[in-house]
Amino acid sequence: MIAGKRVLLVISGGIAAYKSLELIRRVRERGGDVRCILTSGGAEFVTPLSVAALSENKVYGDLFSLTDEAEMGHIRLSREADLLVVAPASADLMAKMATGRADDLASTALLATDKRVLIAPAMNVRMWEHPATQANLATLRAQGVLTVGPNAGDMACGEYGPGRMAEPAEILAAIDSFFAAGARLSGRRALVTSGPTYEAIDPVRYLANRSSGRQGHAIALALSRLGAETTLVTGPTRLADPAGVDVVHIESAEEMLAACRTALPADVAVCAAAVADWRVAKTSGQKLKKNGTAPKLALTTNPDILANLAAAGNSRPRLVVGFAAETENLIAHATAKLTSKGCDWIVANDVSPGTGTFGGEENSVHVIDAAGVDSWPRLSKDDVAARLAARIADHLAGASVTGSAS
Ligand code: CTP
Repeated sequence: MIAGKRVLLVISGGIAAYKSLELIRRVRERGGDVRCILTSGGAEFVTPLSVAALSENKVYGDLFSLTDEAEMGHIRLSREADLLVVAPASADLMAKMATGRADDLASTALLATDKRVLIAPAMNVRMWEHPATQANLATLRAQGVLTVGPNAGDMACGEYGPGRMAEPAEILAAIDSFFAAGARLSGRRALVTSGPTYEAIDPVRYLANRSSGRQGHAIALALSRLGAETTLVTGPTRLADPAGVDVVHIESAEEMLAACRTALPADVAVCAAAVADWRVAKTSGQKLKKNGTAPKLALTTNPDILANLAAAGNSRPRLVVGFAAETENLIAHATAKLTSKGCDWIVANDVSPGTGTFGGEENSVHVIDAAGVDSWPRLSKDDVAARLAARIADHLAGASVTGSAS
């Protein structure tokens, strides 16, 4: 899977940098091309000469930045790769990545890239366990950064615990599975809706709901990880845009529908947004003033985006997946939505108070299709997303076999 792929390897400062030389050798053995950026910290541990000799490519680093910029800008360098690998990823470089700093070639390339990034952290155990590093890690993961390691063990500094960089063979396996997984939906287009919608009352007030967008964003990321060209149409959330996904930000249901139509054609559409069912019939151009009597808001029904996509005729995605948020009679209500919305699958979730699903980290879902109900155990929303993306990949693979036979 690595053969023919281009890896941009960032080697930052740390004793584990010597293992990156072995990594370069192994990627090259598998037929991959490796270009390296050696940070000034990294160059304290391994020499540009050994990196250049093993990669059989010019080494990029701040020492050479003037000529590097002339020959190949940091943007081209990061975009021409199929995957960026940071090994070792120091605590400092992770902090820079999480905060979007770009004060050297490595951090600039990492900020400018439109490709996925895999990091192999390596640092002292206390640095690794520090809440600041863990918060940076969470931020990076939410943005779609992949991680391998660190492992626990004796450390060069004499302490014991997690912080040792993963072994070259483990990093190689992570690179391999990235390229293997990435192929499953390559060439496919996916459309995902996420988050709440805001329906204006007047220029400052709106009607909304408590959707966090976590599940929808996680699905967009999971589909893109499998190689799908993914558009995420999202209402306002507090979440970072997932890496590698084309994100369209909207506020109202009508804007969401328009953005979804623009995003077609797609092979699969997943409607995870908690679209407001109603909007204010006549929004006020000016802020409503208190005048002693409370205003009566007349509501009108919003377009149903899922039903619209399912009835899009020639532009209908081959697979249309809806969600059903129910507080009672989960399976019966969700199954009824399969018909009323005209979609192929419904992912049913119980959003009763006390389940913690709405706005929470976990979800227990039942995937309902014409064949019946597939109940999954309670999982993190990321795991639900990964499992759903895999099910979609299986389905589309089957569908294309049927399609080509007919
Ligand atoms: N949906 C949509 N557009 C709407 C309303 C819902 O696309 N205007 C989609 C949601 O994204 C979800 C599915 O329809 O995939 C079901 O949403 P849900 O809120 O469970 O159901 P509703 O259609 O709103 O029906 P009800 O509120 O009566 O349960």
